[in-house]
Amino acid sequence: MTAATYQYVDLPDASVVTTRALLTARENIGDTVAARAMMCIHGGAGFGKTLAVNTCLRELEPGEDVRKITFRARPTARAVRYELFTALDLAGEPPRHPSEFDRLLKTALAERPRTFLVDEAQWLNGEAFEYFRYLWDEPSTQLAIIFVGGEGCHTVLRREPMLSSRIFIWQHFTRLTPDEVLDVIPLFHPIWADADPDDITFADSHAAHGTFRAWAQLTAHTRTALARTGRPRVDQELLRWAFSRLG
Ligand SMILES: Nc1ncnc2c1ncn2[C@@H]1O[C@H](COP(=O)(O)OP(=O)(O)OP(=O)(O)O)[C@@H](O)[C@H]1O
Ligand SMILES: [Mg+2]
Repeated sequence: MTAATYQYVDLPDASVVTTRALLTARENIGDTVAARAMMCIHGGAGFGKTLAVNTCLRELEPGEDVRKITFRARPTARAVRYELFTALDLAGEPPRHPSEFDRLLKTALAERPRTFLVDEAQWLNGEAFEYFRYLWDEPSTQLAIIFVGGEGCHTVLRREPMLSSRIFIWQHFTRLTPDEVLDVIPLFHPIWADADPDDITFADSHAAHGTFRAWAQLTAHTRTALARTGRPRVDQELLRWAFSRLG
């Protein structure tokens, strides 16, 4: 899979860069999967959580069975069962009765060790979290679960002591520091490779503020500006034009 698969905006020539947060996630995810434990990665919008977790999960042992579940709205336990049925590619019709459904899921999960990536976990309420806890606690299953969510995720999880007391590792994802911006942005996209470091700092302090998603958008607009003006290199005038599009 190419790095572009995980780009928020279509950004040709962008690379996945190894940030400190990504390095920490790599170690945390490896340890969580090895321990068949549960972890929670939480932090602000656009800080790079989803991209980091997907990158790290791809690097696990080839035999590791990883299933991704992304919630877009507040699911009930019933909706969680259906999502798992789909994520596990189970054959046939989903069972009608909850107890039958639970038995089916537990049987499927007992087949082999599995890792779940549950993204947008801030959408989960107590009932939904409790359902994951129930499956994880079942002695026949060997589940590792990585919950990933926005700032609210931590608050919601903390309200569920049954689950939160079982979380093996908590990782708070933070924005890029100004120093880190100077290290990683030149590797992120060729337009920054030969840019003046002062211009990169200017872009970060005026527009991107260490948020990776903002850097991706800013890069897309700056690329357009370079193409339209025919200038060979980023400058502050081009950057100001790009900022004006970011609001
Ligand atoms: N390590 C990285 N290397 C290259 N690009 C990155 C990296 N991390 C993030 N990005 C860029 O920033 C965008 C936003 O990152 P991502 O979707 O992972 O954020 P998020 O923390 O999951 O946000 P949200 O909380 O809104 O889901 C990505 O689509 C990608 O363009
Ligand atoms: Mg995300």
